[in-house]
Amino acid sequence: MSLELEKSDLADPEFVTVRAALRRGEDLLSQFGVASPRLDAEVLLGHALNCRREDLYRGLEGVLTHEVRDRFVALLGRRRRGEPVAYITGEREFWSLAFFVTPQVLVPRPETELLVEVALRIPARQVSLARILEIGTGSGAIAVSLATQRADAEIWATDLSAAALEVARVNARRHGVEKRIRFLQGDLFAPLREWDLGFFDLMICNPPYVPSGEIEHLASEIRQWEPRLALDGGVDGLDFYRRILGDAHRYLSGAGFLVLEIGGDSGTQVSRLVEAAGTFRAPAIYRDYGGRERVVVAERLP
Ligand SMILES: C[S@@+](CC[C@H](N)C(=O)[O-])C[C@H]1O[C@@H](n2cnc3c(N)ncnc32)[C@H](O)[C@@H]1O
Repeated sequence: MSLELEKSDLADPEFVTVRAALRRGEDLLSQFGVASPRLDAEVLLGHALNCRREDLYRGLEGVLTHEVRDRFVALLGRRRRGEPVAYITGEREFWSLAFFVTPQVLVPRPETELLVEVALRIPARQVSLARILEIGTGSGAIAVSLATQRADAEIWATDLSAAALEVARVNARRHGVEKRIRFLQGDLFAPLREWDLGFFDLMICNPPYVPSGEIEHLASEIRQWEPRLALDGGVDGLDFYRRILGDAHRYLSGAGFLVLEIGGDSGTQVSRLVEAAGTFRAPAIYRDYGGRERVVVAERLP
């Protein structure tokens, strides 16, 4: 079905009310194989109307103006071409906060909230969590969420992508924590200085971990739209773990913690790498709400 056909659908009285437009939008998206057509139609109509998704249900019989209908059809057309909803609306919720996102950053995933949750659970008596380093901050979702939860924390957040850091800065400002996060551009630890050795209480990272050869098998909406720099973890997907574990202990304080997101149930492999580094205690593995191994936590040996 072409976008022209969708436009002609607008003449259809079916498209006139919020209720009818939602039904039609859902139909059109499901015909194009979109995985969550109802949810996406709601988010996109909410965006076209500049209201929250929940508010649509308070005015289901409301009549849409031509302008709103045109806007909705344009948004449906973008979704139909595979563009992720978050890039279309420029927003994704993470840790109950609205994050600005662009195609320069990975869309923050709900599973990654476990990383924040686990980091916040590290008992204060073990580590003060006063100085936190996030590597590969992307949209800033992790660093900003931690900053909103720990008013005493100072955070350093790095990324190789200058464009991603611009997005992260917007999010830090949006949530009022820009004075407590320093954004540094560069490769892993490269932007840090000599005097940062032994400085951090907590190091946290959701690294690129998709094996290079598997990228072409990812859903097209990830493969074609999300930055490869945020996905590609090298031949076996473990390159970043090896590199981080090579240097992490140097920048962590005496009993500092390393918190890493992992993918594809790679807990055993990443735990082996942690143990082989010889600078951390045996790590703990946490599963996400889908039951998959998602987070590895390791305490630095004093
Ligand atoms: C999987 S994304 C995580 C983004 C964000 N922290 C999140 O959880 O949504 C990995 C991030 O690492 C960044 N990155 C990739 N290679 C890097 C490197 N060598 N040094 C620093 N950051 C890097 C990417 O630009 C991307 O923002």
